[in-house]
Amino acid sequence: MGVLLKGTPKKNLVLVTGRAYPKLANDVAKQLGIDVLKTTSYDFADGEIYCRYTESVRGTDAFVLQSHTQPINKWIMEQLIMIDAMKRASARSITAIVPFLGYSRQDKKHLGREPISSRLIFDLFTTAGADRIMSVDLHAAQSQGFFNGPVDALQAMPLLVSYVRDSMDISNVTVVSPDAGRIRVAEQWASRLNNCPLAYIHKTRDITCANHAVSKRVIGDVRGKDCIITDDMIDTGGTIIGAVECLKEQGAKSVTIVATHALFNGDAVENLKNCGARKVIVTDTVPVPQEKRFDNLVVLSIAPLIAAAMKAVFTDGSVADLFANYPEHHGKEFLLA
Ligand code: R5P
Repeated sequence: MGVLLKGTPKKNLVLVTGRAYPKLANDVAKQLGIDVLKTTSYDFADGEIYCRYTESVRGTDAFVLQSHTQPINKWIMEQLIMIDAMKRASARSITAIVPFLGYSRQDKKHLGREPISSRLIFDLFTTAGADRIMSVDLHAAQSQGFFNGPVDALQAMPLLVSYVRDSMDISNVTVVSPDAGRIRVAEQWASRLNNCPLAYIHKTRDITCANHAVSKRVIGDVRGKDCIITDDMIDTGGTIIGAVECLKEQGAKSVTIVATHALFNGDAVENLKNCGARKVIVTDTVPVPQEKRFDNLVVLSIAPLIAAAMKAVFTDGSVADLFANYPEHHGKEFLLA
């Protein structure tokens, strides 16, 4: 007889999803060889959200995945409620997977009397009961510090770079950052593309008005080059299309647009179709429905990356290694979404 009642060494992973983009959770589950745990979810007549898991989650390492697509505030709220339910159902650990984190671009004050909404979102996850956050390409890497716990800031770059390398001749490429804030990422792109040249668009914004860049000029030599512009998100497309115009004016030979989060709001789709870019390459961190698809758009599945990161977290492996070794880690196949 001892003083301890021996516990079970059993360790289980469970994946649940909100209603925003269940296909992504199913794709992730498929990569892991499991099913998504069924959740009963519905809205009350006044818009309140209800959820309940259909099986016990006691003692599990739970991953609650939600894509912050439109209607964004509803889906954020649903994820918070799901995390709260998980906590009260005694999950052992709770990871909020937010492939695209809503409000992430509002990470600082530009003017007095503004909020820092990104910080508030992280605080809400903490309050709901998340122990860990997993996201892809946060608007600014340093916003990881808004959460007082582990943040797996996954990068789509290795996946996107691999696709670019495999699908175009990179001997005449220049990587272009659409604004000063993305230069560090553009540098990483350039180093993965045989240390190709780099340029950036000097953009000034009207900070009193959303989605509005006012003036732009290219810093760097792009004449005759195959330019690749990389951004974290395309919302209205204003930033990236403005950058394409600028590059064309400066004599770029071709322009390829690459972005992680294809929000595609307003006239983005129409404008992207007609902006003269050779190709637009994005991932499905948010859904890209058929009506938003066009001929030269490529949508790469982010599911293998999320699944690999979940596996690393669950087995106490290294998430950082995924970026050093991608795509070798997953094989050479690109999964289209
Ligand atoms: C800005 O800092 C972001 O990285 C994106 O460039 C911007 O939010 C995209 O928005 P839009 O497509 O509306 O220009």
